This record gives sequence, C-alpha cells and structure tokens, in this order.
Amino acid sequence: MKLKEAKMFDKLKRPLRDLRISVTDRCNFRCHYCMPAELFGPDYPFLKKDEVLSFEELNRLVFLFHEAASLEKLRITGGEPLMRKDVDKLIEMLSKTTGITDIAMTTNGILLPKYAQKLKNAGLKRVTVSLDSLDSKRFGEINGRGIGIEPVLEGMEAASQAGLGVKVNMVVQKGVNDQDIIPMAKFFREKGYILRFIEYMDVGNTNGWCFDDVISKKEIISKIDEEMPLEPIAPNYPGEVATRFRYKGSDDEIGVISSVSDAFCGACNRARLSVEGKLYTCLFATKGFDFRELLRSDATDEDIKATLVDYWEKREDKYSEERSEESSKTRAKIEMSHIGG
Ligand code: GTP
Ligand code: 5AD
Ligand code: SF4
Ligand code: SF4
Repeated sequence: MKLKEAKMFDKLKRPLRDLRISVTDRCNFRCHYCMPAELFGPDYPFLKKDEVLSFEELNRLVFLFHEAASLEKLRITGGEPLMRKDVDKLIEMLSKTTGITDIAMTTNGILLPKYAQKLKNAGLKRVTVSLDSLDSKRFGEINGRGIGIEPVLEGMEAASQAGLGVKVNMVVQKGVNDQDIIPMAKFFREKGYILRFIEYMDVGNTNGWCFDDVISKKEIISKIDEEMPLEPIAPNYPGEVATRFRYKGSDDEIGVISSVSDAFCGACNRARLSVEGKLYTCLFATKGFDFRELLRSDATDEDIKATLVDYWEKREDKYSEERSEESSKTRAKIEMSHIGG
C-alpha cells in the first residue's frame, strides 16, 4: 500500500497516521477489565454534554489534524461508540471533510443490527467487534451484564450484510477464557472473519492487572498451531498492531496483539483523542493535551495545527517496551473508557 508522505515526526522518528477518536465514555457493558460494575455504578459521574466535544468541534479538529499530519486512518471508539446519539452523522461529516476512506469503529456489536446500514451509508468502512468467549454464560460474566453471545453475533451479521468489513477482537485472560481460544479460532475461521487475540493489558487503573494474568502471543499461537498449523504473514502496513498468521494451505487469517510479550512501540503511529478533547500520544499516557480549551478559545486554525505539530514533535512514548509490574501499579494511566482501545 502506498502511503502519503508524512509531514511530522516525533522524537523516535514516528509519524502520526492513525487517529482514534472516543465519542462517549458510556457503555452498555461492564467488562470487568475495562469498566468494572462495582466502580462504574448508577452514580458514576459520566461526562456531561457540554464537557464532551460536539460533532462540529470534532469535525474541525480532525480536519486540522489531517491537514497537519496526513492521516491514513480514523477509528471511532468509546466507551461504546454506538451509545453516542447520531454517531453516523459524525462519520458522514468526517468522511466528507477529510476524504479519508479508511474509517473503522471498535464496538461491542449489540447495537449494530439497528445502525449498520446507516453507518455504511455514512462512509464507515469496517467494524471490529469485541467478543471474548463463545460460551454465553462465561461471556455474560465477562461483560458484567449477563448478555449472551447471540446479540453480538447478530451485530456482526448485520454489519457484514450492510457491506462493512468485520474483524473480531478477543482479549485473552489466563484462568478466565483461555479455554475459548481454539473454539473461537475454529468458529471465526468458518465464518470468514479475521479474529485477533489481544494479550491482556494493564490499561487504566481499575482492573488489578498482573503479568501472571497474561497468556502470551507465543502460547496462543502454539496452542492453535497444535490443532491447525499456522505460518506467519507479512504486515499489511508499517506499524501494524497485530502480528498476522494464516492457516497453512489457505488464506484464512488470524492476528495476535502482543503489547505485553512483544511490544510494537517502535513503529507506533497512533494518537487517541478522548471524549473531552484531550489528545493522548500513548494508550498508557498519564496526561493529554487539552484541545477542547483551544477549540473553545479564539485560537485560529493555524494555531491549532502548530500546537499539534509541536506536541507530536515532543513525543517519546514507548510504555509497552518499558512496562514492569511496578509501573503497571504506580502509574496513573488514563482509563480505557475515555480513550477507547
Ligand atoms: P486494523 O486497522 O484492523 O489493523 O486495526 P487495529 O490494529 O488498529 O485494531 P484495533 O483498533 O481493533 O486494535 C485492537 C486492539 O489492540 C485495541 O483495542 C487495543 O487493545 C490494542 N491496541 C491498538 N493500538 C494499540 C497501541 O498503540 N498500543 C497498545 N499497547 N495496544 C494497542
Ligand atoms: N487488555 C486488552 N484489551 C482490552 N480491551 C479493553 N480492555 C483491555 C485490556 N485491559 C479491548 C476490548 C476491545 C478493545 C477496545 O480493547 O475488548 O476489543
Ligand atoms: Fe464497554 Fe468495550 Fe469497555 Fe467492555 S471493553 S466495558 S464493551 S468499552
Ligand atoms: Fe504506542 Fe504506547 Fe502502545 Fe507503545 S504502548 S504501541 S507507544 S500506544
């Protein structure tokens, strides 16, 4: 794939290519590794409407970021992005103003039957649906809402019917869903959706993560390889998050996202915009730059672009290369529900 020429680089010579935009901090699930129900209860202070960037503010900001950085890809995240009213209108605005064709969404999938066609019509290209088990009881425990797998599978089907690309994300946790690795691999191979296994990460401060909870890329691959032999395949683009494999003798593909056992910070070209308009240059960042304040001041377009360039040029993040049991506990990281995955 031919990339547009990069315009700005951070201290480790990495361009910005992939902007991930969180559109809501709310979710209809309570996955214990992301928004545990004990902490995100009925009284939880979710952001109020005026604290969240409006579609017009987002559209202006993303357009300016694109002018400054030549973005290749936008990803809409949450919380659960389909909980944001009329999110398809935002996608239509972003698609028209930036001309970026690779616009994706990370979602838990249960609202897709209602929205898939609208999203496709608005310019969304693909969805990545999270599903951690094929066992409804276990999945219901993981999502903290007792929701079984059927509504999620129906969501994937609706997306596919609407012409959206579909990938599946499975977070693998030792002692929680490791028994689901093989059934998931078989099921989604048959369905024809690319499944990506994600090593469980120490995102945010609420999930009590430790190294022992992680099943590594190597373990995941050797488990599958024993039953269905695999071979590695080359990345689709520089800095791709997932390491790709295919089942020998076919084009059927899986991926593993190995942030813990085999970090991929060296080519990290991603930035995350939080619901309240802060830009984070790492998934594990402790601080973000407040673009909402700039947007709501008399800053000109040129000021905003120059601020982004300046902020990116100072970037040195490589948390996953430096992670330790100690840092995972002591570092005050931004919560996943504010910046998506
Ligand atoms: P494609 O465009 O389909 O390749 O998607 P992607 O690789 O951007 O996929 P997606 O957004 O679904 O990312 C999958 C998961 O990988 C995320 O939900 C995160 O859990 C994890 N991930 C993505 N980007 C990063 C990153 O920069 N650092 C770390 N540590 N994890 C990441
Ligand atoms: N470790 C790995 N992946 C996570 N996700 C959420 N929390 C974690 C975590 N602690 C995944 C979700 C979803 C995406 C947004 O990130 O399951 O697929
Ligand atoms: Fe919601 Fe996704 Fe977080 Fe689960 S992982 S609580 S579905 S945002
Ligand atoms: Fe990028 Fe931070 Fe993830 Fe490393 S840990 S790949 S720098 S987001």
